[in-house]
Amino acid sequence: MAELFPELSDSAGKVESSLMAAEPLQTALGQRPQQGAWFIKRDDALAVAGSIKARGGFHEVLALAETLALEDGLLTPAGDRRVLASARARQLFATHTVAVGSTGNLGLSIGVLAAALGFQTVVHMSADAKQWKKDRLRARGVHVVEHTGDYAKAVAAGREQAQGSPRCHFVDDERSQALFLGYAAGAHHLALQLRMAGRQVDAAHPLFVYIPCGVGGAPGGLTFGLKTIFGRDVHCFFAEPVASPCMLVQLASGSHEPVSVYDIGLDNRTEADGLAVGQASLLVSQLMASQLSGVFTVPDDRLFLDLLNAKQTMGIELEPSAAAGIGGPTWFTASPEGRSYLGTHDIDIAAATHVIWATGGSLVPPREHRRFQERARGLISKE
Ligand SMILES: Cc1ncc(COP(=O)(O)O)c(C=O)c1O
Repeated sequence: MAELFPELSDSAGKVESSLMAAEPLQTALGQRPQQGAWFIKRDDALAVAGSIKARGGFHEVLALAETLALEDGLLTPAGDRRVLASARARQLFATHTVAVGSTGNLGLSIGVLAAALGFQTVVHMSADAKQWKKDRLRARGVHVVEHTGDYAKAVAAGREQAQGSPRCHFVDDERSQALFLGYAAGAHHLALQLRMAGRQVDAAHPLFVYIPCGVGGAPGGLTFGLKTIFGRDVHCFFAEPVASPCMLVQLASGSHEPVSVYDIGLDNRTEADGLAVGQASLLVSQLMASQLSGVFTVPDDRLFLDLLNAKQTMGIELEPSAAAGIGGPTWFTASPEGRSYLGTHDIDIAAATHVIWATGGSLVPPREHRRFQERARGLISKE
């Protein structure tokens, strides 16, 4: 990775994000230290792809490159993986296509890495995908196919195209285990960071994690990883837009059959493009039924207000999807449901660590950030 992307030379090729204490944000939102300690996990600043989707996307593309190189004899099982960035590997990968369907950020992750390795790359984008994300991919030689329908249609189109072609690998955001495991690996790093920050996690010192959810792969993988490490001592919550609560709908239905937000009369229209998903991944929802502590929904206006809060108190610029988790800790102590959860689990919130997962933003063009922040200011002046 360091050979492909000069910006990774300092981290020796590792793509990881920092864990930042978030006291100024906590105070600005009216929460006291007695309500636990706040942190922000900065996946908004993950190098190269600028979003949480890099965790799964990079893992799947690298695993594919490794498999093809092993099959070709270019790489031996114990061999140096740097051969994957060689000219011979590029020649091999140029005869293969990587395809993906995305609302934007998965496409960016897959597109950037697959193109850098030399694969032919096709990204099927939904109508929600932002223009700058499409432009950025095209500038890197990625073939972007635009669909008028929603995210599920973009995924279905990509899956169908790949089926007829043996040299085409489709990265399936709804069903891929490789993606899921890539996200899950992030849990290990968070555990290490919490230890380094002196935050103990056990029954008396619970960990609360709030993660924005689209199709469910990224937050589901992280939850799976965190539950593997911390068991009952971690409480994971997903944050979804009011118009697109696909994981909430699927889990609340109690069914293994797909149930979408359209089935309950919602329109899946939200400014949180990364979370504009009508149907959750069934692979993930089935795992989450026993692991997830809950889901809360966030109105779009709140996303803008919270991204402005993050900017003003922490200097962090988030995209709307990435701000969805910010309301988590407050919702917890301010709502009857949140307080009832604490009572049922006999939790002393003062000893808790709250981790708000910020999931995207560093690649967003400055003019878009200005637009987001202006929208929030407009909401405040109306109040
Ligand atoms: C910024 C951002 N946050 C969160 C998510 C949610 O990830 P998932 O769709 O895997 O649930 C996405 C998905 O694209 C995203 O772009």
